[in-house]
Amino acid sequence: MNTVITGLQWGDEGKGKIVDYLTESADVVIRGQGGNNAGHTVIANGTKYVLHLLPSGILWDDKINVIGNGVVVDPIGLCIEIDRIEAQGVKISPEKLLISDRAHVVLPFHKELDAAREIALGDQKIGTTKRGIGPTYADKVNRCGLRMADLLDRPFAEALITRRTSEVNEILSKYDLPTFTAAAVIADTYIAFERLRPYITNTIPVLHKAWKAKKNLLFEGAQGTLLDIDFGTYPFVTSSNTTAGGSTTGTGLPPTAIESVIGVCKAYTTRVGSGPFPTCDEGLSEYLHNLGREFGATTGRPRGCGWLDSVLLRFACMVNGVTGLAVTNVDGLDEYDHLKICVAYDIDGIRHELPPADRNFWNRAKPIYETLPGWKQDTTKCLSYSELPKDAQAYLARLSELCDAPIAFVGVGPDRKQTLRL
Ligand code: GDP
Ligand code: IMO
Ligand code: MG
Repeated sequence: MNTVITGLQWGDEGKGKIVDYLTESADVVIRGQGGNNAGHTVIANGTKYVLHLLPSGILWDDKINVIGNGVVVDPIGLCIEIDRIEAQGVKISPEKLLISDRAHVVLPFHKELDAAREIALGDQKIGTTKRGIGPTYADKVNRCGLRMADLLDRPFAEALITRRTSEVNEILSKYDLPTFTAAAVIADTYIAFERLRPYITNTIPVLHKAWKAKKNLLFEGAQGTLLDIDFGTYPFVTSSNTTAGGSTTGTGLPPTAIESVIGVCKAYTTRVGSGPFPTCDEGLSEYLHNLGREFGATTGRPRGCGWLDSVLLRFACMVNGVTGLAVTNVDGLDEYDHLKICVAYDIDGIRHELPPADRNFWNRAKPIYETLPGWKQDTTKCLSYSELPKDAQAYLARLSELCDAPIAFVGVGPDRKQTLRL
């Protein structure tokens, strides 16, 4: 079964954990968008792994992991990540990891350009991860980006980097940010590229061969639907299509290859970075932070936390074509007396069950809540759905009803084993 794993909220839903769990029965795990702005946490056999560019299937032996054409790859960051994950005892080889020769390259100055954009935006800043993601995708769309394959043609790559460095330096100097010499950018990029060279290939025929051979393909989404450049809370979004469609344009596998879409959401909502968040709740944020939970895997920033928002989830299920829900972090609500679910927004007295596009809408959206009883029991040791407290089952059933999608997985703890399959 070829399955897309996609985030239904503002990222950090627990996609890494679900991908890792499903990799056991998959053959190939593929990333199709985003870059090292992603931070996917997997806890397996007592060890915690945080993955940024490496697909979460990398922790399993004998599985192929592909970084597809739609991903923006920071070669220096990827080398550091490979070293870190290898130091944790995971073997990474060109048989196990393939990088698309069509993937765009994040260059050192893209990160500074990211910082410059944020400074220019002032109090309207996006709160990016400062990994250079937006500027790299902007260069891609502006047709002045550098692809992995271009690095094979060194004179061409050097000319492109030299031209872009001088253009970028003009912008950076306006903001008193460090400027670059083209020679340093070229040297640093090539040191990393030479290390990555054995992994770089035309991944499209490899993926098609696997598809035709009826191998199980698992597409690992990064970020979440509300961060999607088209469907998210624009402009407070990332710069790629994070929704299921990004899995095809970002890999070269066609829509007809996809057989199911698992939408991952938390049992509550979190968001890191700026932008609207109607169900944000200070009490719940403080409660979860005091438990040591909900700090960003990439930047360490505390995530804002709030009640489950079914307006967003309903929309996310629609645009992704979700066939099953994976609800994680159910255990995060174990001690709460009463739980709120936002079922609609009230805007100027009108009820909205889907988010409209108008950005002014968000400031006026008042959540309409339904309150459900909490279960006040430890769920972390539950081994099956039927072992969950009845009130937890009722909460999940209501969530499923509001989104019109069946529950497929439930997370009751961060460990690989704390995943219940329905
Ligand atoms: P991703 O970016 O979607 O892969 O999610 P992150 O790894 O950034 O954030 C999810 C956080 O929740 C991580 O700290 C995970 O270890 C943790 N997590 C995932 N599923 C569960 C769960 O069911 N229960 C608990 N307690 N933690 C979970
Ligand atoms: P995973 O894959 C949560 C957010 C940033 C910021 C906005 C734009 O771990 O779910 P960017 O650096 O992409 O230009 O930042 O998107 N963001 C994420 N938030 N999880 C992520 O990835 C994110 N990747 C980007 O905080 O608000
Ligand atoms: Mg994350």
